[in-house]
Amino acid sequence: MLKCVLILILIFVFFLACSKPDITMLQVKSPDGTLSLTFRLQEGAPTYEVARFNQPVIKTSRLGFIFKPADSFNFFKIVRSANTSFDGTWTQVWGEKKEIRNNYNELRVDLREIVKPRRKMILVFRLFDDGLGFRYEFPEQRNLTEFDIMDELTEFTLADDATAWWIPAYEWNRYEYLYQSNTTSELDTVHTPVTFETTDGLFMSIHEAALTDYSSMTLKNSGGTTLKADLVPWSDGIRVKAKTPMVTPWRTIQIADDAGGLITSYLILNLNEPNKIEDTSWIQPGKYIGIWWEMHLNTATWGSGPNHGATTENTKHYIDFAAKYGFDGVLVEGWNVGWDGDWTAEGDKFQFTIPYPDFDIDEVTRYAKRKGVRLIGHHETGAAVLNYEKQLQDAFQYYQDLGVRVVKTGYVGNDPSIKRIDENGQEQWEWHHGQFMVRHYRKVVEEAAKHKIMIDAHEPIKDTGIRRTYPNMMTREGARGQEYNAWDPDGGNPPEHETILPFTRLLAGPMDFTPGIFDLLYEEVRPNNRVNTTLAKQLALYVVLYSPLHMAADLPENYEANPEPFRFILDVPTDWNDTKVLHARIGDYITIARQDRNSDDWYLGSLTDENGRNLQAALSFLEPNQQYVAEVYRDGIDADWQTNPYAIDITEMLVDHNASLTLRLAPGGGQAIRFRKATLKDVNRLTVK
Ligand code: NOJ
Repeated sequence: MLKCVLILILIFVFFLACSKPDITMLQVKSPDGTLSLTFRLQEGAPTYEVARFNQPVIKTSRLGFIFKPADSFNFFKIVRSANTSFDGTWTQVWGEKKEIRNNYNELRVDLREIVKPRRKMILVFRLFDDGLGFRYEFPEQRNLTEFDIMDELTEFTLADDATAWWIPAYEWNRYEYLYQSNTTSELDTVHTPVTFETTDGLFMSIHEAALTDYSSMTLKNSGGTTLKADLVPWSDGIRVKAKTPMVTPWRTIQIADDAGGLITSYLILNLNEPNKIEDTSWIQPGKYIGIWWEMHLNTATWGSGPNHGATTENTKHYIDFAAKYGFDGVLVEGWNVGWDGDWTAEGDKFQFTIPYPDFDIDEVTRYAKRKGVRLIGHHETGAAVLNYEKQLQDAFQYYQDLGVRVVKTGYVGNDPSIKRIDENGQEQWEWHHGQFMVRHYRKVVEEAAKHKIMIDAHEPIKDTGIRRTYPNMMTREGARGQEYNAWDPDGGNPPEHETILPFTRLLAGPMDFTPGIFDLLYEEVRPNNRVNTTLAKQLALYVVLYSPLHMAADLPENYEANPEPFRFILDVPTDWNDTKVLHARIGDYITIARQDRNSDDWYLGSLTDENGRNLQAALSFLEPNQQYVAEVYRDGIDADWQTNPYAIDITEMLVDHNASLTLRLAPGGGQAIRFRKATLKDVNRLTVK
């Protein structure tokens, strides 16, 4: 009898061990446990939620898709799951920080439809201590080959009605809007990155990483604090034309205790593929000047005629200036045939291998070479992408043969303004950030790499960190830059603009803002416009707004007339070993310190909105037991962006890592500092006797 009972118990235990646990709920935590994510199938539909220190930050949010025709792809069972970890460090070819740690825990969930056709999908979640990324993978499978995504159901339901800093999606001017702030529940449809501050003082940013062959994700409020992925459609309404095997971009949520923590989060880069370019010796950050601002001020023209900017003579003048002061490149816009007439509507006229007759490109590039300077090329397409693609290879070959290493591209055109010819030979009009253009921008980067050319894209697709994979994708515009101060009827960028950009647009990646305007008022040529900052703030922008290629945007004569502040532009590097955010209040002020990658110097940039303020900056980032000379460029005591923008006070002082500096910022002002190691001579000279 006892034997029988024992056998029965054993059989029961055996069955208990073999029966499957309830795996409709899975969890993963970040390496130090700060963040946790719970994945659940709710009646077959995948969902996730995120908590930070056990407090919800993203409440239960949907995942899944709708395919064409009306085929909803979100009724699954879990086939298997796996938890893995990764911890490694990689080196950026160039960047705001040299060594990047990539440390995450991953949860991989293999799903299969419960009913026929039993298609498969994998969800991958990566939890970092400073946020998370997740993506969908569609493995190769018999029942899913080519398919059209009509909707991605991904939601982000914020646990709090947080304040959001946002720009609108689906507007004619692409990404070029002033950021606004509202509560999440008040949003309509916005671009990413969109940045949040919760009522508890937590900061978050939602964006995407590794946008490769998919359409951009915008976010649409679908009720309360729920933001739903709204993929930018093709002209035929399809959101993504897909083919297995494929992976979507990563959906990213960065989370930090303070706004500065978003800036020093490298999660988006970590979610991109490693560098694909073997020889990177030709990829070099640097500074440039160019035949550019004069066109925006309307004192020269892009098109041919008596005021043509891109003449051989004018370019030589810029080359002389670049050589004298050590700039790497001279950008020349308006050099090629196609600018005459309305180039914004007739981009098909652009020829990328035919210079205007008054621009002797062979002579100019020979002259530049002799002087140790390179021409920076320019491909404005007027959004006529088909015309550009036809010439793409020749256009890059042409520049490569001339020794050009950087090309600035441009896609001016009111959205949706990209002409495409469809399968029936009909003209269609696409958005700048739909899948058609995501493919185009990538094609340009790859073609450029074949010709050892770096890209600076204006009117770009948003940055999602592909500079890690293609480090020739240097910088891009994708927001309102300096040029708005030259001509926008709204008076240009208000003083708070540059205190918002670092926490929004620049979380995506570097920006070619084109700082450094010294002649701030230009009343004679543009009486209704001006630069809405002090002079010192123009210098601070070089440190605060990260870009591996920075322009000194003003005219050479305005720099020659102001040699002392110009010194800072000449000194400041564009490649950094490390970045630290000292002060961060979105829309109010910011201070960033960065360590030069090629010397012992540190640089600091601090700037404010329309309100003057004093900020206290601890210099603990400096090497201990070492004196530094602080070369300080600060607003004059009575400086004010409106009434006295030029007042600047340039001074030197000895400091060390125990020191704390009061950063005086005028209304609309800023401060820039170079810290270099002090020599004995400096110590003697600067020590107060
Ligand atoms: C817009 C770009 O942002 C600007 O830098 C350029 O000068 C014009 N397009 C002309 O290409």
